[in-house]
Amino acid sequence: MKHSHTPSFLIACSAVLAVCWGLALSFFGGHWLLTGHLFPHKAEAKIVVAGAETPADASGGAPKAEEKPFDLASYTPDVGRGETIAAKCKACHSFDNGGPNRVGPNQWGIYGGHLGHRTDFSYSSALLEKKASVPTWDYAALDAFLADPKGWMPGTKMQFNGIKKPDERADLIAWLKTLK
Ligand code: HEC
Repeated sequence: MKHSHTPSFLIACSAVLAVCWGLALSFFGGHWLLTGHLFPHKAEAKIVVAGAETPADASGGAPKAEEKPFDLASYTPDVGRGETIAAKCKACHSFDNGGPNRVGPNQWGIYGGHLGHRTDFSYSSALLEKKASVPTWDYAALDAFLADPKGWMPGTKMQFNGIKKPDERADLIAWLKTLK
């Protein structure tokens, strides 16, 4: 019984083949109708070559999103997220009006206040010396200090590594601004 293919099996085979041909023809034919190219891969290759002529591609591709410099002017800070980020500070600071000094001074009114804004806290000499060149906690000063406390104020008593992401600092400082 070598030739056991029944006619219905053969009909099924040709039906499958017909469907395959139909798909192939409609794919290539449709592509050809749209683009004039019979082989889609050639058409794609052509697009890539055309793109390579632009300066961005010549220098190795457009910059990735995370490499873009942070643009504070066009950033809308998220005050709520800023308050969440401040959880990192609460081991050492209270933030409420009239709150106590802890390891670090109370932070109420810090934005726009003087360096060493509390008279009842014993600041490091590093902080008091910095006050001569940077009198006020404006945005730039807070941003620089919170990015790298020991780098910006060598000798500070604040044992904190800093917040590396500029958008997180912007959110946090936006929340600090509300404490007045
Ligand atoms: C490990 C404890 C600690 C943590 C955590 C900490 N700080 Fe401090 N902070 C201090 C100390 C101590 C000082 C006083 C620094 C000095 O005298 O050099 C200080 C000072 C400051 C000052 C200056 C206050 C003034 O009156 O001039 C600001 C602003 C500040 N911290 C903000 C923050 C923020 C915001 C965070 C969270 C992102 C934070 N700190 C996290 C301990 C801490």
